[in-house]
Amino acid sequence: DLHTAYRRQRQMCIRDSTIIEKLDGQNKIHALEKAADLIKNGSVVAFPTETVYGLGANGLDEEACKKIFDVKRRKRDNPLILHVTNDEMVRNLSSEITEDQQKLMDNLWPGPLTIIFKKSDKVNDVVSCGGNTVAIRNPSDEIARFLIDKSNCPIAAPSANKSGRPSPTNAQDVYSDMQGEIEMILDGGSCNIGIESTVVDLTEKPYTILRPGFYTKEDLEEYLDEVVYDKSLIDSNTIPKSPGQKYKHYAPKTKLIVIKGNMDNIQNYVDGLGINTDEIGFILCEETATNVNFENVKIISKRNDYLNFAHNIFSYLRELDKLNYKLLICEGVNEQKMGISIMNRLKKSCANNIELI
Ligand code: TXA
Ligand code: MG
Repeated sequence: DLHTAYRRQRQMCIRDSTIIEKLDGQNKIHALEKAADLIKNGSVVAFPTETVYGLGANGLDEEACKKIFDVKRRKRDNPLILHVTNDEMVRNLSSEITEDQQKLMDNLWPGPLTIIFKKSDKVNDVVSCGGNTVAIRNPSDEIARFLIDKSNCPIAAPSANKSGRPSPTNAQDVYSDMQGEIEMILDGGSCNIGIESTVVDLTEKPYTILRPGFYTKEDLEEYLDEVVYDKSLIDSNTIPKSPGQKYKHYAPKTKLIVIKGNMDNIQNYVDGLGINTDEIGFILCEETATNVNFENVKIISKRNDYLNFAHNIFSYLRELDKLNYKLLICEGVNEQKMGISIMNRLKKSCANNIELI
């Protein structure tokens, strides 16, 4: 049963020295204090946020931040987000806060939004990768906030996956990438949102969305005159302005095809592939799934339910990736509202292998 499975997992963790700390009942404060001590001592700890799990270290400690790059196998030109819990910390890390930056901070923080600022000299070169800007996010997740406050420093944290892999949205997915390489994973269950924060550059005009997320252009334009999507998000031949966006991303090991168009044609399309359907893992919307008879189907959400789609997509890709299928097929969504952010992740996951059926 689940309980024994968890205990077995836990023993395994201790043997290979990555401890998963379950954050319930009495253990909660104890585990958080232990995690904060590790951060203060220059170690790397994985923790939940409302978007995805982060791989955190003291953002003011250059050596600790270097460890994040090593553990994640991240290229050294890809800067880190600093996580804070109040505006005072932002004032310390940025050289100026413009009226528009303050407006977004007041209205959309805490939450799944990362804002780019001009950096102050408190931000080290490992975090900024030598640039003159810094990405800052004030997360809403209670555990993340508690950890930042207890550690008494901004926490530098990328998503807690190995570079190129789908972002982890639960402790087990962090564990499968980080096992034996970090001392602790704070297990706060599955992340509410499931895809990473929106990253918006407000240091120059036009204001630019470098990575779409929970918040879209329309959401930000409720507070700002004009926001544009970085050209690379629209034209895949343009080099992204955000360093992290140019790398291969979110990819399962199994080949993945994303299908769009008329789902009534799915049976025909699959028949034409020449692969037995029992060797294919499917991620389909409920409306599509009820009309087909494939062996291995995971229903992700109703077709226009972007919230649930986003919540499940990374964990489903990881789950199916473990089952040794020859091929994964995932149904895409319309590119409107959060569907834009979901398709951004899916396009990268399948290396632009999108079929219109
Ligand atoms: O939801 C999230 O943002 C998660 C959780 C853990 O907070 N974090 C996350 O971090 O997704 P990461 O490192 O996986 O993605 C951060 C993105 C990268 O594409 C990076 O290149 C970009 O933000 N970025 C960071 N600092 C930047 C800067 N100064 N200028 C432009 N882009 C920056
Ligand atoms: Mg990432």
